[in-house]
Amino acid sequence: MTLLVTGGAGFIGSNFVLDWFKTSSEPIVNLDALTYAGNLANLAALQGDARHSFVKGDIGDRALVDQLLATHQPRAVVHFAAESHVDRSIHGPGAFMRTNVDGTFTLLEAARAYWGGLAGEAKAGFRFHHVSTDEVYGSLKPNEPAFTEAHPYEPNSPYSASKAASDHLVRAWHHTYGLPVVTTNCSNNYGPYHFPEKLIPLMIVNALAGKPLPVYGDGQQIRDWLYVSDHCSGIRAVLAGGRLGETYNIGGWNEQANIDIVNTVCALLDELRPDPAGPYARLITYVTDRPGHDRRYAIDARKIERELGWRPAETFESGIRKTVQWYLAHADWVASVQSGAYRDWVSQHYG
Ligand code: NAD
Ligand code: TYD
Repeated sequence: MTLLVTGGAGFIGSNFVLDWFKTSSEPIVNLDALTYAGNLANLAALQGDARHSFVKGDIGDRALVDQLLATHQPRAVVHFAAESHVDRSIHGPGAFMRTNVDGTFTLLEAARAYWGGLAGEAKAGFRFHHVSTDEVYGSLKPNEPAFTEAHPYEPNSPYSASKAASDHLVRAWHHTYGLPVVTTNCSNNYGPYHFPEKLIPLMIVNALAGKPLPVYGDGQQIRDWLYVSDHCSGIRAVLAGGRLGETYNIGGWNEQANIDIVNTVCALLDELRPDPAGPYARLITYVTDRPGHDRRYAIDARKIERELGWRPAETFESGIRKTVQWYLAHADWVASVQSGAYRDWVSQHYG
């Protein structure tokens, strides 16, 4: 038994791979193109571990994917690989279409051909698990109920549109070809190995460097935050017991306005690494809003709880404290990912 994981050197994928081996000895083949967002340093703990094989390559490379499927005969594909940052999708949507739409299409076609050649239990047990986002559902008004799996798709950014397109492909490959798929749509994650272009790690690393903390618009946009290992346990639950062709929302019932998140991060840093220059919140700087900025996301996670008994293990208080502590203890990791390419992005986007 083997899993083929795509994007397993990124934030969530690497957490998934590391968590997997805490409870399973089943091998993982990890296919990742190592874009700016993929870091082998995330997987350093697995160096020399025979259960983990890393392959540098693109999900859009059909010959490579065919060869990996034929060689390793995985019982499932768990598909994380994507371009994942909304702001980058606004600056340059092309890569999002290539990886999230075309790449997913290529992976589905390769999986379909491989699965078509299986027989018996191997065929019946095969899964294509597509990892997606709540952003495909669009934006909620203040009093609207949280997104259920039946919410219409109303993506608003090039990123969310590309993920919505990939979800539709996955759905169609099940309905038309019978490919055994499951899809999970998760809310915003945070935790270790989160690339510091996203809100929470950016605020931590900027605060520690004494740099401005850029809050878009009025800072009142709401996201529903989930600690990354809870997302990983949700994926494991759906991979093991999710009904074929179904989608499952994963979320932490934790809606927070961006400005409250930033203030929480500042307060934790004030406690854990006080700055002689004064409270970190002094660095908060309101900047021009993101074009088309979604106002509110919120996940109704009752289906996965009802059907599979999944619940998050962390509260926001415990998860955000662990996260800030992790960044304080891993200054070397932060330095290693802040390459020239990272600095170029920061100066292009924030000026
Ligand atoms: P990430 O940007 O940190 O990592 C993406 C990984 O995919 C990187 O390692 C990158 O090298 C790899 N990759 C990119 N293009 C590739 C290609 N063409 N071929 C092979 N590998 C490629 O992203 P993340 O935050 O870990 O997100 C993982 C998945 O989870 C994505 O599909 C994303 O849409 C979804 N998701 C993310 C969140 C979140 O809050 N971050 C929430 C819900 C769903
Ligand atoms: P982000 O982490 O990019 O995730 P997403 O856009 O996928 O939800 O952003 C989370 C929220 O934080 C979002 O409302 C945009 C906001 N934000 C800022 O206010 N400043 C920033 O510098 C960044 C990166 C995000």
